[in-house]
Amino acid sequence: MAKPKLAAQPSAARHVAIIMDGNGRWAKKRHLPRALGHQRGVEAVRRVVRGARELGLEALTLYAFSTENWRRPEDEISDLMGLMKRFILSDLDEFAGAGVRLKIIGDYKAFKPDVVELIEGAVARTAGNSGTTLVIALNYGSQDEIARAAAKAAVKGPITPDAIAAELDTADLPPLDLLIRTSGEVRLSNFLLWQAAYAEMVFTDVLWPDFSADHLREALEEFTVRDRRYGGR
Ligand code: IPE
Ligand code: IPE
Ligand code: MG
Repeated sequence: MAKPKLAAQPSAARHVAIIMDGNGRWAKKRHLPRALGHQRGVEAVRRVVRGARELGLEALTLYAFSTENWRRPEDEISDLMGLMKRFILSDLDEFAGAGVRLKIIGDYKAFKPDVVELIEGAVARTAGNSGTTLVIALNYGSQDEIARAAAKAAVKGPITPDAIAAELDTADLPPLDLLIRTSGEVRLSNFLLWQAAYAEMVFTDVLWPDFSADHLREALEEFTVRDRRYGGR
């Protein structure tokens, strides 16, 4: 039997971003290798992307690898790259078929050539889609993004907030409505610092591998009762 659909459009949120944190702690709690935590994290990605589609989100941005994550041991970085490649190979057909458009933010070209090639192929394949945009942040750091944007803006004219915003990796996305972080940490870890200026935030203790489409829906329900004032009254 087909699974029941999630309630359509429970909120007006257009763009949700998630700091997917806690894979290591999830594995540690179970005396399992970290790599298995990352593997189960990919399953959570799959669930949440399906949920975002069913909820009709315009954009879902997932923080998958930060500019600071290069500080991790080489074998963990290589596990993460392997998982990313496998995820694209196994899931691209489903997402492409469902109208998902894939977009990458961050300096992903610093990855190994085979990874870059796979990513670019996947992006090209979904470029004409008009459903949910799945944005994956790869080798992404907000400070790096803002510095790159400011440098581009400076070449064109005066550096104003609008001029910088127009050069950010996220320039073509709807404004960020809701930022979720799993695992109990209450920090942004260099993610979407500019875009989060007026985003609502939900911090949950749920570890990323345990995160479900229902958790996403709960966060969106919380979002609907927030009073967004943007500095006005
Ligand atoms: C998030 O889980 C995945 C990435 C940062 C790539 P972590 O690996 O950071 O898990 P914890 O924070 O150590 O539990
Ligand atoms: C943030 O998680 C980066 C990603 C989820 C990709 P980290 O686990 O790297 O963040 P810190 O080090 O706890 O701040
Ligand atoms: Mg972490």
